Amino acid sequence: MVKIAPSILAADFANLERDIRRIAAADYVHVDVMDGLFVPNITIGIPVVRCIRPVTELPLDVHLMIQRPVRYVEAFCDAGADIVTAHVEADTEENTCLALEKIHARGKRAGVVVKPATPAEAVLPFLKMCDIILVMTVEPGFGGQKFMAEQMPKLQTIRRWIDQQNPACELEVDGGIDPVTCKTVIENGANVLVAGSAVYKAADIPSRIRELRG
Ligand code: DX5
Ligand code: ZN
Repeated sequence: MVKIAPSILAADFANLERDIRRIAAADYVHVDVMDGLFVPNITIGIPVVRCIRPVTELPLDVHLMIQRPVRYVEAFCDAGADIVTAHVEADTEENTCLALEKIHARGKRAGVVVKPATPAEAVLPFLKMCDIILVMTVEPGFGGQKFMAEQMPKLQTIRRWIDQQNPACELEVDGGIDPVTCKTVIENGANVLVAGSAVYKAADIPSRIRELRG
């Protein structure tokens, strides 16, 4: 089944608890962490993850857009993250492996993320260690951008490798997902869809979540 992970980047941060309750029909809560270095924006961090943990039973899917994420993965796990993903571009291969190991040592799910310009091959060293792989369909940093259909061949390639080498691994997409593009990413192999604007701008959020499942 296709899972939906609404991004709280599109929520009203002054009413975060209310806006997290509004997505109770979803599967994960997607939390975008940005440091102003890896991406040109700064969002939320460890104290916010800790505060939202008790307000939902949904798993917290923490997308780290920070330099050298290995420094912080344990702190995010301890704050209540259930899934932690780190960009392959943010550190060396050795440190990315170490980050995945640290997340697993905390009993949490771990994954890697690839930016649009990063080739599919970049996930190969980590594939067998991943519970989830996230393919960006926009340049990370901001919500509300246009979906990049040119990422679909990469999504298909990674889907093929997952099916061959680690079929339990989930394949997530993030950026520009709406009731039209959701169909494209599902056809190309994604099973977890992040959506910020498409969820929070909807008049009826539960029915929008249903619609995004394809
Ligand atoms: C972008 C973030 C996304 C963003 C998606 O860097 O990783 O999760 O919130 O927003 P939409 O769905 O509006 O493209
Ligand atoms: Zn994200």
